[in-house]
Amino acid sequence: MLDKLDALQQRASAALEALTDLAALEAWHAQYLSRRGELTQLLRSVGQLPPQERPGAGQRANELKTALEAAYERRQADLKRQARTQALTAERVDVTLPGRPPSLGRLHLSTQALRRIYAIFADMGFQVYRAPDVETDELNFELLNMPPHHPARDMWDTFYTTREGVLLRTHTSPGQIRAMRDYCPEPIRVILPGMCYRYEQVTARSEMMFHQVEGLAVGKHIAMTDLKGTMTEYAHRMFGEGRKMRFRSSHFPFTEPSVEVDMDCILCGGEGCRVCKYTGWLEIAGAGMVHPVVLRNGGYNPDVYSGFAFGMGVERPAMLSHSIDDIRYFFSNDVRFLEQFG
Ligand code: DAH
Repeated sequence: MLDKLDALQQRASAALEALTDLAALEAWHAQYLSRRGELTQLLRSVGQLPPQERPGAGQRANELKTALEAAYERRQADLKRQARTQALTAERVDVTLPGRPPSLGRLHLSTQALRRIYAIFADMGFQVYRAPDVETDELNFELLNMPPHHPARDMWDTFYTTREGVLLRTHTSPGQIRAMRDYCPEPIRVILPGMCYRYEQVTARSEMMFHQVEGLAVGKHIAMTDLKGTMTEYAHRMFGEGRKMRFRSSHFPFTEPSVEVDMDCILCGGEGCRVCKYTGWLEIAGAGMVHPVVLRNGGYNPDVYSGFAFGMGVERPAMLSHSIDDIRYFFSNDVRFLEQFG
């Protein structure tokens, strides 16, 4: 028995030295140390030895088991270390290579224009008030003084949803009602920016979605001069100190009186060109004094309170400033266009 154990020890040790990878190591373990392994078999046969030989053989076999297990673990650690060193050398990263710069995103041109507008109005005390893109017919039209079948509704080609009375807002004006109902009876000075939607033929000049910025001021002594001053200050800061302003009489159901706000053409300076259709003027906003019916719908008594409102597009002025000749570029998501700005 002891001879067998000696022989086994020699064979196992030699094999352990000779093997070079972890798979072979596991095979070695199976051969000698597993439940069916050679050493385990020998240990089991100790019981069949004559009684006087059993203790010596048992002790020797157990010592050998401990020794082989320890040798197995040492070899395993060695082989793992070797494998890791090999992997590190083979898959080595050259940290001296220059990095690849990640391509940076940038703000969309409309966002840039919106942020400039926010900054200008913030300086005049206007806060940004958010209103939803999906609106009710009631807020988009009715409460703005356009009952069902009112012909003025034809000014806005509307996307209706499958739910009765729910639509995509055609302008930011319904936010006026929301802001008034929210603030009433406090005075108000807000701008309401956001996307608007119109069921329109998409052309170089008109998109089916675009941004507007609405403005609303409500208080006790607000007059037309406040509207003119605010629009003039805005145009001067947005388009240059020297801009000339013109307030042209117009009509909107939710203002009385109503005006179109024009400034002299930034391309020809008022001489007349293709962009201003040879009029010398560019329209930058619709505006007016908030209609008494609208004030009342917002909760304000029109005998005590008055207000002005305006609504302006965002993309068209940006087109002028950057000589962009097609509004469809804004939302067609071609990065070659978007990358040119910012
Ligand atoms: N909502 C109008 C439009 O989309 C623009 C407008 C005109 C807004 C006059 C106003 C306003 O607040 O007073 O055509």
